Formats: sequence, C-alpha cells, structure tokens
Amino acid sequence: MEQEILHGIENSVRPISIAAVLSVIGYFVSMRFIPPVMQILFDRNIYGIDINKTTVETRQQFSKARKSGAEFSDTFKKLVVPESLGIVVGGIYLCAVLLALILAGVPLTKANGAVTTIAVMLLLGFVDDVLDVRWRYKLILSVFGAMPLIMGYEGALSVAVPIPLRDYIGSAFLYIGPLYLVYLVAVCVFCTNSINILAGVNGVEVGQSLVIGIASLVYNLVQLRHVDDQTTTEQHRVAIVLLLPFIGVSFALWKFNRYPSRVFVGDSYTYFAGTVLAVAGITAVYSKTLLLLFIPQIINFVISLPQLFHIIECPRHRVPRWIPERNVLTNSRNGTILNALLMVFGDMHERRLTNVVIVFQIVCSVLAFYIRYVLAGLVFERVV
Ligand code: UD1
Ligand code: MG
Repeated sequence: MEQEILHGIENSVRPISIAAVLSVIGYFVSMRFIPPVMQILFDRNIYGIDINKTTVETRQQFSKARKSGAEFSDTFKKLVVPESLGIVVGGIYLCAVLLALILAGVPLTKANGAVTTIAVMLLLGFVDDVLDVRWRYKLILSVFGAMPLIMGYEGALSVAVPIPLRDYIGSAFLYIGPLYLVYLVAVCVFCTNSINILAGVNGVEVGQSLVIGIASLVYNLVQLRHVDDQTTTEQHRVAIVLLLPFIGVSFALWKFNRYPSRVFVGDSYTYFAGTVLAVAGITAVYSKTLLLLFIPQIINFVISLPQLFHIIECPRHRVPRWIPERNVLTNSRNGTILNALLMVFGDMHERRLTNVVIVFQIVCSVLAFYIRYVLAGLVFERVV
C-alpha cells in the first residue's frame, strides 16, 4: 500500500511540473496580449465606465455622449475602461490546459467534459458582455453548460452520513443517485453566478478567484499525498492541471484589473473563473470543501436574495456609492457583502475595500481547511 501511494505521487510530479510551466507561459502570453486587445475592444465599443469613480450626473452625460456617437471628451476618455478581457485570458487558458493535458499524458477522455464545460461558459460570458443576456436565460444556459461535465462524472453518487445520524439512516453511506447529479449542476451554476455578483469594485473579481484557486490547488496537493487508489489520484491530478494555468492567467489579469483598473474583466471572466473552480471541485470530488471555500460568496448570495427575487427593488448596479469629496466608498443600501463590510468597518477607499474582501477570503480559506481537516473528524471517522 505504502509503495502504491508513493507511486501515485511520483507519477504526479511530471504532469504537475508541465502544468506549472504552462501556468508561467500562460501568465507571460496574457501579459503580452492584454494591451493590444484592450485597444481593439475599445475600438469595437466594448467598454464600461468606472462607476466607483464617477457621479450619477457624469454617468448620465456619458450615456448621452455614447448614444450620440460623437468623439469622447478627454474627461470621458479617462473614465472608460475596456471590458471583457476574460475572453483573452480564457482563450489562452484553454490552449494552456489542452497542451498540459496532452504533454502530461493525462487521457483526454478524463478531462473532456471539464474542458467543454469551461469553454461553453466562457463563451456564454462573452455573449453576455456583448448582448446583455437576461438573468433567466443565463441560468438556463449555464445548466446546459454544466452538462458535458456531469455526463462524464465518475465520482460517487452517495453521501457519507455523519456518525450521530447513522442510527436513524441505518448506514454509513446514503445513495442518492441522480439527485447527486442535480446537486452537482447546482454547484456549477452557483459558483459561476456567485463570483459574478461579488463584483463591481476594482480587482475584486480576480482577487477572490485567485484566492479560491490557490486554496483549491493546495487542497488537491495535500490530498494527493493521502489518497491511496489510482482513480482518486488521477482525479486530483486532473484538477491540478486545470487549476495551475488558471492561476497563471489570472495573475496577469490581476495586474491590469487591480486599482485603478486599466481593464474590466467582464462576465466572460467571472463565468470562466467560477466554472474552472467548480469543475476542478467536481472532477476531484470535493464539492463540499469547495463550498466551504465559497463562504464569502455564500454570504453575499444570501444577503442578495431579497433583491435577486425582487422582494425589494434591484437596480442594475448594486455597487457601493462613491463620495467624491472624500474619495471613499460608502454603503449604497443594496444587499451585498461589499456594503456589509463598509457598514462594519466604515467608509473606505476602493483599493482598501478590495483588500478587505481578499483578506476575508483568505481567512475563510483557512477556516475551510480547519473545518475540513479538524472539525469533520468529530462526525466522520476518516478525514483524509
Ligand atoms: C453584477 C451585479 C451588479 C454589479 C455588477 C458589477 C447583481 C445581481 N449584479 O451585474 O449589481 O453592479 O455585477 O460588475 O449583483 N464596474 C466598475 N468597476 C469595476 C468592475 C465593474 O465600475 O471594478 C462596472 C463597469 O461599468 C462595468 C460593469 O460594472 O462595465 C460590468 O457590469 P456587469 O458585469 O455587466 O454586471 P452584471 O454581471 O450583470
Ligand atoms: Mg458581471
């Protein structure tokens, strides 16, 4: 058994090294191509105005100028930011992952569904950036997007029952079959949309995705040392190959998207990022741990519910409000974690707000590991 475990780790060194090299290449290729594409997107009218640096009046004047088709004034030129750079890093990511899978000798059939789902969701995000798709269609389309992954799913279809509940259930595992697949689709749809609604402040979309991506990578590496069968080893290996290039291209995007943003990531990135994280979690069968890594997004989703269901009014943008005199952001009274943080810690500069979200995301990752490896030991007998 000992020898088999060692063999699993040894076999994983090569694919992981190849994915790491492609992650670095992905970073440099993204750094090379983001600047020229910024200009092209701008020429194609794919840009947005930076809400947290403008007043309502400025935005109204901007909309008028945009509709009239006249040349922008210098003030407007400074305020518009090319949008949807996710399509660039997403494309580079797909090339890097395919190359990594081929060079690492991972059978493509093991990753087919994962790669297809990521590609479909990237496309859906880009279509949304260009056509502004309505929420209900986005939800329906993201269910279809998750299907290639779910059809190739090879993990368990039962849930482990916590020790205190076993007397009632009558066994240690509960088979829930197709319902488990429905749950996995829901995880995919949730991850994608929850990153997209924790957004609107410079750097926050990429920042949160990078922290979850790195935490997921660490989790897979730790698990690889513990697992003792071939199938599970392979699943973690595929997840690592999916995550490493994601981290590389996201770092490059972060450089352009952090405060003050020179590019906006667009729904192409938020959809792509959420899907990569979900797909890695489902492929390597750690959806529950993944949800622990999404604690800030779950909190944001829960406090967003009254507005998402239109129980209270939901404006097009729910970002905090900018106070020009003090150059800080304040609670705009929309139900988001950004506003909640401003309520708790007081008004703050945009850059600081993003940093607070990132620190909170890191703290939640540590908490997730604590729950997964320590607290789970109280209700399950084997917590590798
Ligand atoms: C989601 C949120 C919306 C939020 C928006 C910000 C819900 C239901 N929807 O909508 O409340 O306002 O994301 O991305 O919660 N922008 C900035 N600064 C940034 C990033 C984006 O001003 O750092 C603005 C730009 O005008 C950009 C626009 O947000 O053009 C992009 O919004 P979009 O991604 O289309 O919004 P949604 O995803 O529909
Ligand atoms: Mg968005």
